[in-house]
Parts: sequence; structure tokens; C-alpha cells
Amino acid sequence: MTKDAKNPPIDRVDGRLKVTGGATYFADFELPNMAYCVIVGSEIGRGRITGLETKRAQGAPGVLGVFTHQNMPPIPGWDAPVGGEADGPAPKPKTEETYRILSSPKILFDGQPIAIVVADTIERATYAASLVKAIYSKQAARTDLQKHVAEGLAPKGAEGGNYSRGQADASQTAPVTLEANYTIPIEVHNPMELHGILAHWTGSDTLMIYAKTQGVNATQQAMAQAFKIDPKNIHVHTEFMGGGFGMGLRTWPQETAVVAIARKIGRPLKLVVNRSQMFTLVGHRPYTVQTIQMGADKDGKLVGIAHAATAETASYEDFTEATVNMTKFMYACPNVSTRYRLVRLDRSVPIWMRGPGEATGAFALESAMDEMAHKLNLDPIEFRLRNYTETDPEHNRPYSSKHLKEAYQKGAEAIGWSSRKGEPGSLREGNWLIGYGMSTGVFNAFRWEASARALLKADGTLTVQSAVTDIGPGTGTALTMIAHNVLGVPIDKIKVEYGDTLLPKAPTQGGSAIVSAVGSAVFDACTAIKQELIELASKDAGALAGRQANELTLADGMLSVEKEPAKKVSVTNLMRTNNLTVIDKTKDSKGGPDIQKYSMYSFSVHFVQVRVNPVTGVVRVAKAVSVADSGRIVSPKTAASQMIGGVTGGIGMALTEEAVIDHRFGRFVNNNLADYHVAVHADVPAIETIFIDKPDPIINPMGAKGMGEIALIGFAGAVANAVFNATGQRIRDLPITPDKVMQKLV
Ligand code: MOS
Repeated sequence: MTKDAKNPPIDRVDGRLKVTGGATYFADFELPNMAYCVIVGSEIGRGRITGLETKRAQGAPGVLGVFTHQNMPPIPGWDAPVGGEADGPAPKPKTEETYRILSSPKILFDGQPIAIVVADTIERATYAASLVKAIYSKQAARTDLQKHVAEGLAPKGAEGGNYSRGQADASQTAPVTLEANYTIPIEVHNPMELHGILAHWTGSDTLMIYAKTQGVNATQQAMAQAFKIDPKNIHVHTEFMGGGFGMGLRTWPQETAVVAIARKIGRPLKLVVNRSQMFTLVGHRPYTVQTIQMGADKDGKLVGIAHAATAETASYEDFTEATVNMTKFMYACPNVSTRYRLVRLDRSVPIWMRGPGEATGAFALESAMDEMAHKLNLDPIEFRLRNYTETDPEHNRPYSSKHLKEAYQKGAEAIGWSSRKGEPGSLREGNWLIGYGMSTGVFNAFRWEASARALLKADGTLTVQSAVTDIGPGTGTALTMIAHNVLGVPIDKIKVEYGDTLLPKAPTQGGSAIVSAVGSAVFDACTAIKQELIELASKDAGALAGRQANELTLADGMLSVEKEPAKKVSVTNLMRTNNLTVIDKTKDSKGGPDIQKYSMYSFSVHFVQVRVNPVTGVVRVAKAVSVADSGRIVSPKTAASQMIGGVTGGIGMALTEEAVIDHRFGRFVNNNLADYHVAVHADVPAIETIFIDKPDPIINPMGAKGMGEIALIGFAGAVANAVFNATGQRIRDLPITPDKVMQKLV
């Protein structure tokens, strides 16, 4: 962790609440007269319901209703054809299929809700749900992307179309070439906290929602559209979240259904989906196959790269992500072409999962870079440096900041890169083969519109407010640090209130954009308070009378003359003598600065040392070092935790995570945490995090770029590259499980 006296690593401001059970997650809220929903899922992957037996469920103890496509209350905003905005904040291109929850007997994916059972207790609802029986007319479900890759379609929209510069075939005609295919399996976010909603109609047109959402304002908007009511009448609260990783980036159909049923029944309703439903009802990282063709000259200069990706999506919605984008600008290369395709399968729709498409794409590109470095007999860092670019070759403009060279160097030192042998399989420690690998990560540094309010009270306390949800990265802590740095109010006198639509509007927590977006608004609101204090002081009769604003400085609750620190007044006294109990400022911060002039990205470099057991094929990540060039670090301790979390996810992505479908039935066979393996303590070594910590001069007043995604992006490639270095075997299909390693070694 970076040590900096001016920017001390403070503890997570909500840490105590979280570890003592004081933090209230959506499912912790209890309302009088509340009832419980349980979803019954389809047992087939494609077809129709031809018969539905709900009478036994209906008559079971405590049951208040069994809702199916035959009696589901209408959702007024869903009158519009599919593809409208009612499903969530991001309108999607239309497909020929339609999916509206409980609106038709048609089955589009295994696990699709066919009934929602409501009862007065969760146990009774669960029991009654087990009594619902369906008869189906079944069709074969197409769920295997590998079998249908050739059916890929170019999606509409910005992330779709083909890209190319220079000569399309340069990657194949260069002096040194390679072509390789890479596969990413289905991965599921699997946060600890299960998904769901608590919906309470407080009046005929007023609604209170506690939900697991990454954006309370987005949920408010989605529900306003679905129920055709004024967003002002919808209050959404999500203060704490037990992990999101992207599954809460939209409002899911079952949430809207619960709100509709709650209105019909006239009681508050709670839904918490179970772990196996988490695999189907709240998105996943799509199965993706990629091909990289790469050409270089003998001096190790890239001549051409062609990157093609084909990902699965649902039959009823096109989900797209930026899988191939990194290839367009990461390296100096005159000839680059990319292609992105979707195959519509009988599956539930994917969603962004941490790092999203960029993490998928980086695995392919950074594995290929390692393969090419090996062909050229070059050190993988040296190969990257020979193709380093100081300007963005996709848009022909400068980066707002880029300190990637420094990141390569610092990470290499920390991992002990000089111990790496160029010859794969040549380093041993007892029974273990040792290998080193590295990889680069990159993600857009976004800044979106956001608002924040700051209230400085005469008792010296400061309250900062924003609607933004903290999904776990430490948003509250980072906002506290920003306020502290502007106003000099001690950390323990600052309170951040967030996660509620009654607070100033904020974007959805995602895209690594929140410190940049909401932080800028907090910075502006606090700066407005500071300006007012300075004006008051210069007009005041006290020690600072007649001083110009630019002579004054604010720290530790005192305003003083910068060059004569003895001349000072306390903020508290200043406010009291002016009869002010509070200074209250709200600021709306605009989105990204001059994106026409600059390309804004955060960069990371991941280094790992792996140990591979040649007998069992087991791969252990023995050491990990991740270096982030994400501008100025606002909160060093939570930033380090962010990186550690990303690396932990990256170890899972590299070595263990894979949701497996039995394609005969179109159904998951490991949709539980016993069989779907996320990385656990025993899989995760001590992780060293290093921050370049140089402010970005363009993006925002803090100079901070995002870092949530780059913590993961590239990591899996670093592991694959290290496994190659340890064994001489290249594994291009994630996860790198012992069976694959053994197969290659024997
Ligand atoms: Mo993130 S995939 O933007 O939650």
C-alpha cells in the first residue's frame, strides 16, 4: 500500500457497522404485514407450458396467491413492445423474441420463472412453491455456443460494428505470425448477498423499495416507467450491498413482477432469490470464444493484430460488451482489425461482470502477446515496451495520463521478475515447477454526471450526501477523504449518507466511475463551503479582517493566513459570530471533461508467480503483485482492498470459476457454491498492491481515475502466462483446472 502522510490510509468508515451486523441490507428490513415471494422456475430450456397445476399450492397454509402467466397483474409500462426501457436503465436492441416475466406460456430458458408464490412466511411460500406443477411441450434448447459460433450476428450499436485500420491481412503476412483461439466459460457474479427486493406500496401511487441494486436512481426510473408513475413518488433505498460485481446494474424482471404483485395483494412483499436462481435470474459473464491473429517483425515490432470475439446472448435480448476494444488502442500497431459477434441461445441474458468484456478480451490479447514474445525470444515486458504507445492509436489523441512504463518496472521489481527463466519449465523447487507471468489491464476512466450535498454545521461536523450505492469498494470512505481534503474537517467528524433516492442524484455504481463522478460533486460542494468560509473570514472583524481570499487557507477546523499561521480563526467561531448554524451547498457536477481532446484510461499490470505440480496438475498462485496507474489515490486503504478483491476474483477466473451446462437439458449442473468454485482463502496468497499515485491532470479535480475494473482486467492472462512459463504448456481455455494441465503434461 502506498504510504503518504498527506493521505493517510484510513479505515473503512462503515467497517464497524458491517462487521458487527449493524449494516442493514435490503433483506434485513421488516415491515408490518409483510409477505414473502418464492419463484418457481421452468424445468425445460425451451418450449411451452401446456398445463399448470396451482390448486394445491393455492390451498396450502398461509398462501396469499399463486401468480402465473394466467393471472399475473398487468404491468402498465410493459404494454410497449419488448426492447423498451421498462426492463431497466439500458434500452436494448430488439430481437425477434419477447420475454416478459409471467406473460406467456412460452419458455425461453431453463429456470425462467413460471410462477411466483406468495405466503405469509418464507417457509410456507417455499413449501407451496414445491407444489406447483407444470406440463410442457418441449423443444431442444440450444445452449452450446461452441456448436453455434458460425451463427454469430453483428449487434447494432457502438460496441458492435467492425473496426479496422491499415491492412486487414497484415497480421497474417508479417515475418512472425501466430493464430490462437481462447475460450471464457460462463462465470457468475456470486456475491455473498442474494438478489431480491422488498416492495411496499405506501399509497395508491406511491412506492417504497428496498432492493439489491447498484443504482437507486436507475431502479426508481425503471419502476416509474414500468408502473407509469412519477419517479418522485418512488423511494428506493440501498445503503449497503453485499457485493454486486455487475449483477445489480439493471432492474430485473422479477423485481418488477414483485412490485406488481405487491400492489395487487395490498401488502409489502419480499423476494430473496436462492443461490441456484442467482445463476439464471441476474445475469452472468457470457461464454465467449475469441481468435487472435498477430504478426510482428523480427525486431519485435507489432505489424498487425486481428481480434474476433463471439459471445452468447439470449434469444430475446442482445447483450453487448467491449470485449475487443482494448486491442484497438493498447499497443502501437499500424494494422488492427476487430470483430464482435453474438449468438442468440436459449439462455437467460448475460450482464456485465467485473472488468466486463475488457477482462474477457484482455485474457486473449495478453495471452497472445505472451505467445508472440516467446516466438520472438523476447522478454514479455520488453516486447510490450517495444510496442508501447504514448498516444492513443485508435483516436489519434493523447492519453489524459499514462504511467504504464513505470507500472511495468515497479511490478517487475516487486515480483522478482529477474528470477524468471526465459526457457519454460526450467525452474523447479522440489516437486513444483515455478513460473512467472505478467499481463496488462486497461479500462475507460469515466466521469459521469452526479450531484452531492455538503452541510457544515457550527459544531464542526460535516455531512456529505449522495444517492449513490456503495456496493463494497469503500465509496463512503473515499467520499469522506475527498471532503476531508477540501475542508480539513477531521475524519471522525464527517458523516457520509448514501444509497437513497431522497439524496442528491447519482449514477449507478459501476464502470469504476464513482469516485470520479460523485467524488467530483462532493469536491465541488465542499469547495463551495470553503469559499463561503473564506469570504466570511475576510469580511469578519476578527484576526483575518480585510485579508484577501487567496491569502487564506483552511485546515483542521481553522482558517489562517497562509504566510502568517499565527493569524487564525476557528470555523466554529466564525460561523457562530455570523449566526450560521449550517452552511449547506448542493452541487451538480458535469460528466467527462474534454473527451474530444484526450483518451482517458486507467491502466494496470498484474504479475504472478505460480507453482505447478507436474503430477497432479494443480496450479497455485504463490505470489501476486498488482500495480495500478489510476491517477491520484483518494483513499489508499480501500483502494488496496479494491485491488485485492479484483485479484481474488481474477484467481477464480483463472483457475476455478466455470458454470457448466448440461446441453442435453440446457441446464446448469453446478449452480451452487459447492460445485461452482470461487477462490477462497486457501487459493489466495498475500497480494501486493502498488499505486503509481500520480494525479491525472484532466479527468477531475482530485486527479483520480477509476480502479474497480483494472483490478481484475488482465489478471487471468498473467496466470496463464505464468503457467506457460512454468510448464511450457499453453492453456487457452479458462479456467486452468488440473485436468487441462495434466493432459498437456503427460
Ligand atoms: Mo461493474 S461490471 O460496472 O458492476
